[in-house]
Amino acid sequence: MKALQWQGVNKLAVGQVPDPELRNPGDMIVRVTRTVTCGSDLHLLGGYIPFMQKGDVLGHEFLGEVVEVGPDVRNHRIGDRVVVSSFISCGNCWYCDQKLYSLCDNGNTNPAITETLWGQAPSGCFGYSHAMGGNAGSHAEYIRVPFADVGAFTVPDAVSDERALFASDSASTGWMGADLGGVKPGDVVAVWGAGAVGQMAARAAVLLGADRVIVIDRLDDRLGQVRQHTGAETLHYERDDVAGELRERSGGRGPDVCIEAVGMEAHAPGPHFGYDQIKQQLRLQTDRPIAVREAIHACRKGGSVFVLGVFAGFVDKFPLGALMNKGLTVRGAQMHGQRYIPMLLDRMAKGELVTEHLATHVMPLDEAPEGYRMFKEKEDGCVRAVFIP
Ligand SMILES: NC(=O)c1ccc[n+]([C@@H]2O[C@H](COP(=O)([O-])OP(=O)(O)OC[C@H]3O[C@@H](n4cnc5c(N)ncnc54)[C@H](O)[C@@H]3O)[C@@H](O)[C@H]2O)c1
Ligand SMILES: [Zn+2]
Ligand SMILES: [Zn+2]
Repeated sequence: MKALQWQGVNKLAVGQVPDPELRNPGDMIVRVTRTVTCGSDLHLLGGYIPFMQKGDVLGHEFLGEVVEVGPDVRNHRIGDRVVVSSFISCGNCWYCDQKLYSLCDNGNTNPAITETLWGQAPSGCFGYSHAMGGNAGSHAEYIRVPFADVGAFTVPDAVSDERALFASDSASTGWMGADLGGVKPGDVVAVWGAGAVGQMAARAAVLLGADRVIVIDRLDDRLGQVRQHTGAETLHYERDDVAGELRERSGGRGPDVCIEAVGMEAHAPGPHFGYDQIKQQLRLQTDRPIAVREAIHACRKGGSVFVLGVFAGFVDKFPLGALMNKGLTVRGAQMHGQRYIPMLLDRMAKGELVTEHLATHVMPLDEAPEGYRMFKEKEDGCVRAVFIP
C-alpha cells in the first residue's frame, strides 16, 4: 500500500509499504479516508524527537472505514465509519481505570526509551517514533488499530468527515487542557497558540463556561479564525503588550487558567528567542519553553497552567521561583482521547464544536510532502493539511 514515510530530518516521501495485518485478537484494520498533519509531527520532521527511523510511516489523527476485525472485537463491524484516538490504550490497566489513557501501561510495546528518559513510559501513539511504540502511522491507505474496542469510536451520521476527523487528536487535546486545567464558569482563560490545538482548547473553555477566553499568536489568519469560530478574543504577541492586556482583561489579577498549546518550537519577538534557539540547536536544551515561561509569569497567583504543547526533555531558564512563590499548579499530558471522543462527537453533532475551518488544505496523499511543507511554513494560511489516501 501507499504511505508517507519519514526519510530523514525534513525529508518525507510517499512510497510503498507492506499492508498491515491483524496481530492480536482485539485488533482491527481501518481503511484511512482522512488523515491530517499535527503540530506534533513537525517536532518529528525537524529531528527534535530523535527516535524516528528511515521508512517509518507518519500520522496519528485520522478517520476511516473498518475493513477487518479480530475475533475479540465487539464494538465494530466491517463498514463502520470510525474515528480513532491517536494514543493507544488497553482499557484494562490501572491508568486506564483512572481514565488517564495516554498513560496506559500496555499501549507502548517499546517502553525502554521513555522509561530511561522520564522514569516511566507513557502509552504508545500511532506514527510517533520508536519512543512511542514504533507503530505505523495513519498517513497510509490502511492502518492496524490495536485495542480497537477501546480506541475507536463509530461516528454518528450527523457528523461530517471533516468534523469527526479532529476528534481523533486536536479536539480531544484541546478539551483535555481546559478540563484538566480546571476551567470553571466565570474564569478568565488564556491560551498560547492559535493552531488547531489552541483553537480547540479555547472553544472547550468557552463551552465549559469561562467568562473570557483570550488566545495569543502572531499569525493573523489564525487569530481571525479564533474570533470567528471559537467565541474567544485574541492578542497578537508582536503587536500587543500580552502581559499587560492579560492583567487588564482579568481584573488586574491575571488569568485563572493558562493553557500552553505551542510546544518545543515556540517563537518569541525578543532577543531571548535567539538564546533559546541556539541552546536547542547545540543540544544544551532539548526544548524552547518560551510560551510556558510566559504562561507561568502571566497566570494569577494560585492559578493553573496546563502544558498541551509537546516537550521532549530538558529546558533552560524554567521559572521555578514564580511557580513556587505564586502557588501555581502546573500540569501537562498527552491526550486522553478515549475519555473525550464520545462527548466531542455528540457536541459536534449538535453543532457546538465546529472544525471544518481547520482543514485549510485538502489534498491526495501523494501530495503530502508538499502539504507538510506548507504546514511547517504556515504558508497560505495553512492550519492543517488533510490527506485523502
Ligand atoms: N498533548 C497532546 O496530546 C498534544 C496533541 C496534539 C498536539 N500537541 C502539541 O500541541 C502543540 C500545538 O499543536 P498545533 O497542531 O496547534 O501546532 P501548530 O504548529 O499548528 O501551532 C502552533 C502555534 O503556536 C504559535 N506560537 C509560536 N510561538 C508562540 C508564542 N510564544 N506564543 C503564542 N503562540 C506561539 C505559532 O504561531 C502557531 O500558530 C504542539 O507542540 C503539538 O505537538 C500536543
Ligand atoms: Zn497530534
Ligand atoms: Zn491501559
